[in-house]
Amino acid sequence: MGKYIINGDKRLTGEVSIFGAKNAVLPILAATVIGNNQSTIYNTPNLRDVEIMKKILISVGCIVEKIDNIMYVDSRPLNSFIIPDDLVREMRSSIILMGAMLSRCKEVLISYPGGCEIGPRPIDLHLKALKDLGTEIEESHGFLHCKTDGLKGCDIQLDYPSVGATENTILAAVFAEGTTIIRNAAREPEIVELQNYLNKCGARVSGAGTSIIKIEGVEKFNDVKHTVISDRIEAGTFMVASAITGGEVVIKNIETDHLQAITAKLRESGSLIYNDSSSIKIVGPRKVNSIEMIQTLPYPGFPTDMQAQMMALLSIANGTSIISETVFENRFKHAEELTRMGANIKIIGRVAVIKGVKELTGAKVKSKDLRGGASLVLAGLAAKGSTEVDNIHHIERGYEDFDLKLKELGADIKKVD
Ligand code: EPZ
Repeated sequence: MGKYIINGDKRLTGEVSIFGAKNAVLPILAATVIGNNQSTIYNTPNLRDVEIMKKILISVGCIVEKIDNIMYVDSRPLNSFIIPDDLVREMRSSIILMGAMLSRCKEVLISYPGGCEIGPRPIDLHLKALKDLGTEIEESHGFLHCKTDGLKGCDIQLDYPSVGATENTILAAVFAEGTTIIRNAAREPEIVELQNYLNKCGARVSGAGTSIIKIEGVEKFNDVKHTVISDRIEAGTFMVASAITGGEVVIKNIETDHLQAITAKLRESGSLIYNDSSSIKIVGPRKVNSIEMIQTLPYPGFPTDMQAQMMALLSIANGTSIISETVFENRFKHAEELTRMGANIKIIGRVAVIKGVKELTGAKVKSKDLRGGASLVLAGLAAKGSTEVDNIHHIERGYEDFDLKLKELGADIKKVD
């Protein structure tokens, strides 16, 4: 499973460049099956989840090649609408293939993606939207068999601005007859990125980034080349790495506009932050200030994917901070591991009360999920002594060369398989 061994209490300094966004490249790779065309995607990160999506595309007949950070997908030979069950279980976000496969094949068979470490992860909003567009869905034996005689555009009101449900609906609507309007759509930058890719293919999508998205159905796609935006959560994670070690780190190749909520909270906790449109410099404080309240919210609110990282930082703050996790049901598993490192954290339902301590001490801890695992690494960077973070396969789902990048910034970290 692999582990990181970190000797902490070292200031991070230097520059780090951010790779392509996992949560942007996954829906774009799903979209490559729609158009019976060739897609060349640049700046794709080397991550386990991207590898799984590549296996899925190959399993339905696509030609897929990846050289360094360039992914080539030719979906013309696609010959199956069955998504392999074992791969769906490995990566639940493969559910966004439903919309894309319905647009391409008018049929898809996919297993019900289970819950995961951060909650039950229901897909009711996805299914309701696909049914509104004219999909018949039969659920049996843990599988979803979806079929349509032809998707028809319509008005769809999402009960919650779900990122995945918004993406699935867009992917199902691009070839639908007529126009689809999605209201209460997710506004994440990754949705804008999906719109940009699809429109380069010849789709007619508008409004992404706002809560009302319009998709006018078209009949075919052309070949496309596209460069994926950088990963705002990887960037935020390195920002916290600088803040928690009192370091001075410049983060390059980012869209600083996507980091506003994270920047605001890091400033509130005492970091000095200077930025231009594509890079940001974080000078961590000698002593971290507590933050009265962080509430995770859909974009542009504070991202749930940065909650664990901020909990690590606030564990060594002056005073008591409160984090309210409003997006996922069970996303505090890292708290008990941080407590093993000396943190003083109380969980009451979906609220964490973090009473800052003078310092953390190294310990043996276990990653339970992607961002929680990253937060344990961040805590280890600041802790006195040696920290062993186990089950790092969770972390490698979302961070390419995490240890190597931290080492280049001066961290004493090594990976042990
Ligand atoms: C995406 O997950 C991201 N994953 C998550 O990142 C991210 O945390 C999340 O959006 C929120 O920003 C990818 O993009 C691959 P949601 P998604 O649908 O689409 C409930 C990471 O660490 N809900 O916006 O699954 C759901 O249970 C990952 O990179 C329903 O109730 O998120 C959750 O409580 C973790 N019914 C809330 O909405 C539905 O049909 C937000 O889920 C769908 C969702």
